Amino acid sequence: MLNITNLSKTFGDGANTVTAVDHVDMHVGKGELAVVVGPSGCGKSTLLNIVAGLETKTSGDARIMGRDIQGPGADRGMVFQSYTLFPWLTVQKNVEFGLRIKNMQAKERADIAQQYIRLVGLEGREKALPKELSGGMKQRVARQR
Ligand SMILES: Nc1ncnc2c1ncn2[C@@H]1O[C@H](COP(=O)(O)OP(=O)(O)OP(=O)(O)O)[C@@H](O)[C@H]1O
Ligand SMILES: [Mg+2]
Repeated sequence: MLNITNLSKTFGDGANTVTAVDHVDMHVGKGELAVVVGPSGCGKSTLLNIVAGLETKTSGDARIMGRDIQGPGADRGMVFQSYTLFPWLTVQKNVEFGLRIKNMQAKERADIAQQYIRLVGLEGREKALPKELSGGMKQRVARQR
């Protein structure tokens, strides 16, 4: 599913060069759960940003189902370190956002959103705005989007 081979990423140039990802290999199969662990600044977010297509690699290979990652796509989702909910949309509307992008009808959208809202224990908070939620609640809504 995900094949990362000999992947490197450097930021800056000359004396200011920072090597964020240094010849990393990672292979994740369908249905597998992978965890990247390491000290602050070791390159975890940079690696994930490359997989998400939000950051370009310097060298090596990053493929999803055999296809070279060229940019972001609907086949990958990301929960960012900082909260990334749309602050002007309710919990329900935030969760529905991805389905709206896919042009799904309102009723079907609402049904699916309801399922996921229930899954993360936020039933009854559908109409809440992100600023009214705790940090953990915000992350759980972002995870469903
Ligand atoms: N846009 C950037 N420009 C320059 N250096 C960067 C940039 N992004 C990350 N870095 C550097 O790359 C290295 C890896 O950063 P990264 O954010 O990937 O670490 P991390 O493992 O996610 O850390 P944390 O656990 O603190 O979130 C760090 O030295 C960081 O300063
Ligand atoms: Mg990080």
